[in-house]
Amino acid sequence: MSDYAVKYELLHVEKHTGARLGKITTPHGEVMTPMFMPVGTQATVKGVSPRELKEINSQFILSNTYHLWLRPGDELIAKAGGLHKFMNWDGPILTDSGGFQVWSLSDHNSITEDGVTFRNHLNGDKMFLSPEVAMRIQNNLGSDVMMQLDEAIPYFETYDYVKNSVERTSRWAERAQKAHKRPNDQALFGIVQGAGFRELRKQSAQDLVSLDLPGYAIGGLSVGESKAEMNRVLDFTVPFLPENKPRYLMGVAAPDSLIDASIRGIDMFDCVLPTRIGRKGTLLTSHGRVVIKNAKYKDDFSLIDPETEDYGSQHFTKAYLHHLFKTNELYGQTIASVHNLRYLLKLMEDVRQAIAEDRLLEFREETLSKYGYFEP
Ligand code: GUN
Repeated sequence: MSDYAVKYELLHVEKHTGARLGKITTPHGEVMTPMFMPVGTQATVKGVSPRELKEINSQFILSNTYHLWLRPGDELIAKAGGLHKFMNWDGPILTDSGGFQVWSLSDHNSITEDGVTFRNHLNGDKMFLSPEVAMRIQNNLGSDVMMQLDEAIPYFETYDYVKNSVERTSRWAERAQKAHKRPNDQALFGIVQGAGFRELRKQSAQDLVSLDLPGYAIGGLSVGESKAEMNRVLDFTVPFLPENKPRYLMGVAAPDSLIDASIRGIDMFDCVLPTRIGRKGTLLTSHGRVVIKNAKYKDDFSLIDPETEDYGSQHFTKAYLHHLFKTNELYGQTIASVHNLRYLLKLMEDVRQAIAEDRLLEFREETLSKYGYFEP
């Protein structure tokens, strides 16, 4: 096996499901998997300090090539000593490549074999992102895990359209690998695409696996397809990925989906969901979803969520948080964001424990009977 900057060690396979307990070693420390990564798009997890992230046991965080390239610029971050120093986070960081954000945020995209031309969503400037540019930016940021530029497409497209796109994403992975300047301290992950087509997911996985990259993501999911559909795609895609590398499901955070994807052998997850809904006052709690602005919390003096150990959940009442949201106070957004992150990080700690004890299916039943299926 090549000497990768990021290594995966499989510690235990759950007896009844095949879920994996593992350890990922990075230049910025070791993390246990399966795990959830909070998202810090603009070199900050919105409203949450690095100190709070440590307190709630965040192991890994995610940031975005696209946003940091536009502002403040990857060269400025390189000048600051890299992204870890710039944002004062000394744990591992993964950066997404920009492929997904170019499609979701900017106007007038056009894609060619070379790359994507688009208008910057801040000032309308024409910009060009290619597999090589995405690597140059991420090499400047110094993230532990970099993602290849991929083409993120809608889920419901024709077979021929998806096939062309998958083949381009494979060629882009090869170009990304060639353009990578820091293989000793940064790991490049490929992204398996292929929408809901078994043949194309297989082709995509096999193309990328032939490049012998240090890890693989599954992209193009959680984009409007049903949960059953996502599970179906994972069922037929994961077996094409190597056992000795980490597997990352992009953009997923619903509690039931985290458990169901862990059952299918996924090791890493990320999503803006916990902080995004937190800022609007929706909490993920051990007893289901709480919309804190709801009038019924006005004089509810019970703690926010006594079963989750973040500072806010243990020290503030629902009535107080209701008041902070009603008055638009910033601290309310921080309390809710930290709480939601801790809820998911704890859920993954419990998933790891349940894998170690070969009782993940029981854990799934217990959690879902308290929580129910999750709809945002
Ligand atoms: N984030 C969520 N889904 C995707 C995807 O398919 N590709 C990339 N690059 N990022 C994602």
